[in-house]
Amino acid sequence: MKPALHAVAATLPALPLYTPAGNECALFEHAWKRRVPLLLKGPTGCGKTRFVAHMAARLGLPLFTVSCHDDLTAADLTGRYLLKGGETVWVDGPLTRAVREGGICYLDEVVEARKDVAVVLHPLADDRRVLPLERTGEELQAPPHFMLVVSYNPGYQSLLKALKPSTRQRFAAIEFGFLAPEQEIAVVAAESGLPSERVAPLVALAGRLRKLKGHDLEEGVSTRLLVYCASLISEGLSVRDAVLASLIEPLTDDADVKAALIEVASAVMG
Ligand SMILES: Nc1ncnc2c1ncn2[C@@H]1O[C@H](COP(=O)(O)OP(=O)(O)O)[C@@H](O)[C@H]1O
Ligand SMILES: [Mg+2]
Repeated sequence: MKPALHAVAATLPALPLYTPAGNECALFEHAWKRRVPLLLKGPTGCGKTRFVAHMAARLGLPLFTVSCHDDLTAADLTGRYLLKGGETVWVDGPLTRAVREGGICYLDEVVEARKDVAVVLHPLADDRRVLPLERTGEELQAPPHFMLVVSYNPGYQSLLKALKPSTRQRFAAIEFGFLAPEQEIAVVAAESGLPSERVAPLVALAGRLRKLKGHDLEEGVSTRLLVYCASLISEGLSVRDAVLASLIEPLTDDADVKAALIEVASAVMG
C-alpha cells in the first residue's frame, strides 16, 4: 500500500533546489504518472543528479541511486546470498529494494555497467515491469509507484560503450545541457554564496572554455566546477588561484592545453 504523499514528504529533507532549463519537471511528472522510464543524457555536472533528487522529493518518492562503474554487475543491482553468522541469507540490491518498496531507482552513468545489467533492466523497462530474480526464483512485479531513471553522458560514448537500441528504445529521453548564462549565474550564486556580480565573470569564462570542447578538451567546464570555483572565492581564495584550481586543472593534464586555457582566462577575467 502506497503511503499518502504528504506523509512521506513530511519525513523527507527539504526539497533540493533545482532550476529547470525547460519543461523537464512537467515531463518527469507525466512520465511518472504513466510509468514511462526515463533516460537523461548530458555532460557531467550539468544537473542530472540534482534534477532526479529534486523530482523524487517533489513527488514524495524514496530515491535509490546507483553510480554505475565498469565492474557493476546485475547481481550488484538485484542482490546476492551473503554469509551471515554461518547462515546464507539473501540480501536485496538497490534495484530490488526499489521494486519491492516502490520509489525511483536512478542508475547514474548506466553505460559503464556490465552487459548483463541490460538483462535485468529490459523486462523492467517495458510494459511487463517485472524483475526476475534468478537466484531466488522470484519474479517481482513493480508497483505503480516504481520508476526507473537512467543517465549517461553521450560525450564519453565509445563504440564499446554505447547503449544498444534495444535498451535505449525502452526509455523516453531528455537531453540536458548547461543553463542559459543568467540562470547559471543565479544557480552558482545560490549554491556558493558568492554574489551574482562576482559569479558573472566566471560564467562568462566557462562559456568561452566550453567553446573549446572537441578541439583540445574532452569536456567543457561543468556547473559543478563553477560552484566549486565560486565557493573557493567566497571562502577567501584569490580569483586567479580558484580559477586555476577549479576551472583549468580539472580539464586537462596537457601542458600546452593548460597554457592556452590560462591565456583565455586572463583575457576574459583581466
Ligand atoms: N539546474 C540546476 N539547478 C540547481 N543546481 C544545479 C543545476 N545544475 C547544476 N547544478 C549544480 O551543479 C552541481 C552538479 O550537478 P549534478 O546534478 O551533480 O550533475 P550531473 O549529475 O549532471 O553530473 C549540483 O550539485 C548543483 O550544485
Ligand atoms: Mg550525476
